[in-house]
Amino acid sequence: MKKNITIPAILFIFISLCIPLISEAQQRGWYGRGRGPASSETLPVPKDAQEKKILDVLDEIAANQRGMLNVPMDDGRLLRILAETMGAKHVVEIGTSNGYSSLWLLLALRTTGGKLTTFEIDPDKVKLATANFKKAGVENIVTIIEGDAHKEVARVKEPIDILFLDADKEGYLDYLNKLLPLVRLGGLIVSHNWDAMDQDYIDRLTKMADLETIIQNIQSGGVGVTLKKR
Ligand SMILES: C[S@@+](CC[C@H](N)C(=O)[O-])C[C@H]1O[C@@H](n2cnc3c(N)ncnc32)[C@H](O)[C@@H]1O
Repeated sequence: MKKNITIPAILFIFISLCIPLISEAQQRGWYGRGRGPASSETLPVPKDAQEKKILDVLDEIAANQRGMLNVPMDDGRLLRILAETMGAKHVVEIGTSNGYSSLWLLLALRTTGGKLTTFEIDPDKVKLATANFKKAGVENIVTIIEGDAHKEVARVKEPIDILFLDADKEGYLDYLNKLLPLVRLGGLIVSHNWDAMDQDYIDRLTKMADLETIIQNIQSGGVGVTLKKR
């Protein structure tokens, strides 16, 4: 008899404890809602109004602009942390799409006094990215160059702190050959996605003495983070 009462009582207490936890998780988007597909269990907390404005646009993109081949949220957060940590002044991105990864980089660049040069071949995506940058209030620190980046990168003349490659995977070696001379010593090459890259590009990143490469966020395709050694 005593046993019959104890088991329902324990179950009742357990369920009562779980309900607020589940509700908290739903509010925070821990099931992967919110800013794109999330594998981590936390979300960025805006420190000021401008950061909130950019994060809100990122949320909106994740919710309403599907099929744009955007990086997962964790890769975006990684880009932001890398750029902000190194105090990046100039980031070059190949493959803007609608500007989702750009906005993660711009979160950092607005605080470092830096700027982004980003390349996109598709005119419709250029329009969409331009509108997203304006909505986020960062249009003054980003330049979008429309056209085939294999040709257009010749327009980049300034030193690069981070080169972020996220376009035609078979073109990565060409982008690297053209832009590596401009990446400063101690600068980074970030390559998306590791699991789709050509072997000759991977060999260049991993088998030469001038570069040191690690692979992050393997669970979502992998991002190569490569240091150009001093
Ligand atoms: C994976 S999407 C980029 C996603 C974006 N980085 C993000 O996470 O929001 C790749 C983009 O590269 C663009 N692209 C492909 N080949 C290109 C080229 N040769 N020059 C410039 N852009 C190119 C595509 O149009 C596409 O928008």
